[in-house]
Amino acid sequence: MSTKIIILWVIAVILVTAIAISLSFFMHKPAEPVEYKNKIPMQKTEVGGRIKLPEPRYESETSVEEALSKRRSIRDYSGENLTLDEVSQLLWAAQGITAPWGGRTAPSAGALYPLELYVVVGDVEGIDKGVYKYSREEHELEKVKEGDIRAELADAAGGQECVRDAAIDIVFTAVYERTTSKYKTPVYEERTGASYLRGIRYVHMEAGHAAQNVYLQAVSLDLGTVVIGAFMDDRVKELVNAGEQENPLYIMPVGRKG
Ligand SMILES: Cc1cc2nc3c(=O)[nH]c(=O)nc-3n(C[C@H](O)[C@H](O)[C@H](O)COP(=O)(O)O)c2cc1C
Repeated sequence: MSTKIIILWVIAVILVTAIAISLSFFMHKPAEPVEYKNKIPMQKTEVGGRIKLPEPRYESETSVEEALSKRRSIRDYSGENLTLDEVSQLLWAAQGITAPWGGRTAPSAGALYPLELYVVVGDVEGIDKGVYKYSREEHELEKVKEGDIRAELADAAGGQECVRDAAIDIVFTAVYERTTSKYKTPVYEERTGASYLRGIRYVHMEAGHAAQNVYLQAVSLDLGTVVIGAFMDDRVKELVNAGEQENPLYIMPVGRKG
């Protein structure tokens, strides 16, 4: 091949490449924004507004034995969103109704059900930040406060960072009178001579049952949680807009494991 032909070939290749590059530049379309496949639209709710929770699932691949052996207190979270399905499942595990007469996932002395649940929402796909009260009968959330209060709740819990970093915090409160009105017999503390009503003891036991349900459900959902018992009662009560008769007993931060 003569030198002339080689030079012509090189020029032709350079020209074709230049034309291809300029064509691709002019024909280039900006990339479409990436859409999450299952992204659900944000349900903006006013205070007093209600959100229907998805129906919980009643089966899973995780056996009770597996959940028990994996249960651990987890305080480090990734900062990712939870889904509304996961929130629904956790609340159902704590206090969901499982019998036509109102029986629930956790036992209750005299079936008097003294517990109430609040969800402090930070990062949940589909619902805005705020405080919501769980309505068991309808399996719904009712908004009781606007805005993200996780940092203030963490301050009320002595600065425990897991409360601030979790996607949600479930706050357990109890109305003692629902149980003490029936279980009034005093229990005496022999050492100090003090007495208290048996019903109070029952209420604390019930908070433990419901919290353990959340721990086990979190294992099954591959989420992390911990029970928080150290906090300023009055401040927590004020932060979640709890009723006059309600007493906060536990905060359970929940998030994806960090
Ligand atoms: C009544 C009670 C109160 C608790 N309060 C707190 C708390 O305020 N902060 C915290 O980080 N963990 C708290 N925990 C969790 C314990 O620290 C944890 O259960 C313990 O370290 C054992 O670890 P495990 O749950 O992974 O088995 C509490 C546990 C119980 C039962």
